[in-house]
Amino acid sequence: MTNAARDLEHGVGPVPVTVCQATAPGKVILFGEHAVVYGQPALAVPVRQVHASATVTPGGDSFWIDATDLGRSYRLEEASPGDPLRRAAELVAERAGLARLPAARLSLRSTIPIASGLGSGAAVATAAVRALAQLVGLALDAAEVSALVFETEKLLHGTPSGIDNTVVAFDQPVYFVKGQAPLPVRVARPFQLLIADTGRPSPTKITVAEVRAAYDREPERYERLFVAAGQIAQQARRLIEAGEPDALGPLMTNNHLLLQTLGVSSPELDRLVAAAGQAGALGAKLSGGGRGGNMLALVTPESKAGVEAALREAGAVRVIHTLVE
Ligand code: PMV
Repeated sequence: MTNAARDLEHGVGPVPVTVCQATAPGKVILFGEHAVVYGQPALAVPVRQVHASATVTPGGDSFWIDATDLGRSYRLEEASPGDPLRRAAELVAERAGLARLPAARLSLRSTIPIASGLGSGAAVATAAVRALAQLVGLALDAAEVSALVFETEKLLHGTPSGIDNTVVAFDQPVYFVKGQAPLPVRVARPFQLLIADTGRPSPTKITVAEVRAAYDREPERYERLFVAAGQIAQQARRLIEAGEPDALGPLMTNNHLLLQTLGVSSPELDRLVAAAGQAGALGAKLSGGGRGGNMLALVTPESKAGVEAALREAGAVRVIHTLVE
């Protein structure tokens, strides 16, 4: 138990009156979604243009959670055991050696669209874990934060690979293989992405379950598709580290074709991918669980404006520009 935690539990010593604050970025998967669930490598990068933030204000009569964007405010003990924020709070208390957290109010905000492949669940949980750790005087490194957030991801996604909590908690580009420590990716030459939203939310849990059912019917065929996606992720890592990001374009397009074959694309995603290609993007693909949510287009400073206009014309409800560095 930390000293601060012991003081809080026994009501001695200085009870923190300071507000604890933390943030966490959104993320996109560059290569290897779905295949990563089956042990293949994948690449993901943080997206700092959107983020989640958590504020913990000590005091009050019990522990309250304000999910401001969802318009919900509830006592921790009233939340269902499957509530990821309740789980996050319990895990931090456990790690600090406390039976429960001291009275406080945890307020959460997020600019990350929900169920659209930008890691909103992982970012909210990461911000919450970091702010709660401050409250009880617990020092957690990125790997420890990631491990706790992974537990909350299981409640949301069923069988997550762990890539979302990893890239969000480490807040840097990562090469990820399920069950292994992530490898940071050194971006030798920064590159630009447009992230375009179909406007159709799509829970990852559903597409992951559908891919699982298809894999169970035809394991060898799906294994071949996953291996091909894993090879693309390996090649992509080499290109990023060699300072040849423009060569990622064809790999994105090939990865999109594999995801189509897996059955996780949609007419909206395919329309945006095609529009990006026609407008001069170096490559484009869906990102994340698929069926809806977001797609990525690799652009240059020269092609960026034209591709963005084409994406909007083709139905994108929001386009985020991010520099991967
Ligand atoms: O959370 P999303 O939609 O970015 O999808 C996560 C990526 C998947 O590979 C589809 C699932 C997983 O757990 O890795």
